Amino acid sequence: MLTSVLIPLAVTIPLVLLVVFIAVLFIFCLIKRRANMKENKTDLVLHAIPSKPLLLSESSRENVCNSSKPIDISSKYIDQLSDYIISGSIIEIQETVGQGEFGIVYRGVMTSNTQLPKAVAVKTLKGFYKESDIDSLLDECIIMMSFDNLNVLPLIGVCLDLGPAPYIIMPFMSRGSLLSYLKKERPNFTVADTSEEDIILNVRKQLLSICLQVANGMSYLASQKFIHRDLAARNCMIDDNGVIKVADFGLSEDIYACNYFRQLKGSDNNSGSSTVKLPVKWMALESLHDGLFSEKSDVWSYGVLCWEVFSLGKVPYPGLDPIGVVELLDTGGRLQCPHNGACSQE
Ligand SMILES: Nc1ncnc2c1ncn2[C@@H]1O[C@H](COP(=O)(O)OP(=O)(O)O)[C@@H](O)[C@H]1O
Ligand SMILES: [Mg+2]
Repeated sequence: MLTSVLIPLAVTIPLVLLVVFIAVLFIFCLIKRRANMKENKTDLVLHAIPSKPLLLSESSRENVCNSSKPIDISSKYIDQLSDYIISGSIIEIQETVGQGEFGIVYRGVMTSNTQLPKAVAVKTLKGFYKESDIDSLLDECIIMMSFDNLNVLPLIGVCLDLGPAPYIIMPFMSRGSLLSYLKKERPNFTVADTSEEDIILNVRKQLLSICLQVANGMSYLASQKFIHRDLAARNCMIDDNGVIKVADFGLSEDIYACNYFRQLKGSDNNSGSSTVKLPVKWMALESLHDGLFSEKSDVWSYGVLCWEVFSLGKVPYPGLDPIGVVELLDTGGRLQCPHNGACSQE
């Protein structure tokens, strides 16, 4: 009789205990999962969604409307950029000052309690963009963050709450790009009508000073193990005092890991994208044929930039399209000496 009661009990008690244990474990997991989801949501609100009215001009509003929905920014970037994240509430965006291949740049004013209002340039993505474009823009910030050289454009900060894409804040370069400056100053730098040695020497000195400043910025970048990959007059800026700053690090890469960098972003076969525009006229032979970039290919681009400087902003290889340029280079041809009396014959 006793055994007929004890045997079922010996089976049911462990069974009940097992069921209770599984139930407790399940409830614990459920609570933990809820807590994690809540944490992620807070991240998203803090870093990715515009939290205040935008101070945007008409054209900049258009840009935001055209753009894709807010994209979550990975915590990898938030951590790296944490010292540089600034609130969009202290930035007022004004007119568009330039557009490049990838971004749109506005003039802006930065106000803070401690400093006088400061003119800034604000760069973000234009039109429609992919998540990888956001990463490229943030990579550009991370690259600029470490730079400290008179002839390299520094980073002031990055706003993650001004619009769906990040906004890079840089010092405003009031004299614009080196390319536009060279074109504008053509009348002052043209020495064709003069045989006065002093005037020729003065122009030569000024043009050489531009080249030397770019060389100084580029040699600093090389010392920091950075390859620029898109050095050209359009990507150098001039400040109030006429100081040239190498800028636009959208294509730059850190070369600590390997001495040469293969293929441009977005041009690899895996991504299936072949629409990336290449600055063919500024590219070295090994970059064109093998996708190899190094500080040496930056030196090639620097040579083309010097040609732009002494040609006062002309397009290199006049009359040739990019295919013609590759054919010319492949058959041993090179850029001809600029037609400029200020260009020394040596
Ligand atoms: N700091 C700046 N100050 C003034 N204008 C700038 C500044 N940065 C860029 N710009 C203007 O915006 C244009 C595009 O900028 P850039 O950085 O070259 O963008 P992208 O990566 O799209 O090529 C430049 O040619 C220049 O006219
Ligand atoms: Mg550019």
